[in-house]
Amino acid sequence: PHRINIAIDGPAGAGKSTVARLVASELHYVYVDTGAMYRAVTFVAQSRGLQLNDSDSLASLASGLDISLLPGEGGQIVLADGKDVTGLIRSREVTAAVSLVSANAAVRSRMSELQRRMAAAKGVVMDGRDIGTHVLPDAELKVFLTASPRERASRRFLELGDKPAVTLDQLEGEIALRDRMDSEREIAPLRQAADALLIDSTGRSIAEIVDEIVSLGRTAA
Ligand code: C5P
Repeated sequence: PHRINIAIDGPAGAGKSTVARLVASELHYVYVDTGAMYRAVTFVAQSRGLQLNDSDSLASLASGLDISLLPGEGGQIVLADGKDVTGLIRSREVTAAVSLVSANAAVRSRMSELQRRMAAAKGVVMDGRDIGTHVLPDAELKVFLTASPRERASRRFLELGDKPAVTLDQLEGEIALRDRMDSEREIAPLRQAADALLIDSTGRSIAEIVDEIVSLGRTAA
């Protein structure tokens, strides 16, 4: 069958990465986690001690930086200039700074360029914030995946295990702040594309959402 590209956008914690990974595996497509790429840039910027509000130094970092995603045993491996940063990009420090870094024009243009290259041969499921609106405006299937803020926070909270360093309320506040920054930035803000299908996952199982998207994908292919 004909291979297509699938864009899955939405706010933080809506289940995009879990859903996108499973959809990709069902369709034998490549999963691309674009949030991981912005996280990797943020991690490198922090580890080099860059001033994150200094747009010139972020720009020069981004222009030379190579971010690649490789399939790995337990999921996707993220490399920044060849160094494995997979675990390092999930820290709270990176999470707290990533929206600031991803608002930078040069960072966005470099990441979008890399993402378009990854999707050029079709057959990708790409999750992010601006995939349907900017990166792949011609994607054959676009989904905007949401869930209520409380549910998004409690899903994240459950992932933290039995000794979480934050409360559910704190987590909900952090997610809301990140969504606000991502939605209000000037370049390629988080937004539902006009031709995207809105799926609200509140109270629905992952399997249900995956089945729905897989069958839409098969129809669109
Ligand atoms: O998906 P995840 O929550 O890991 O994304 C981390 C951050 O990366 C987002 O909060 C957003 O600031 C940025 N991002 C973006 N554009 C994308 C994907 C992620 O700006 N396509």
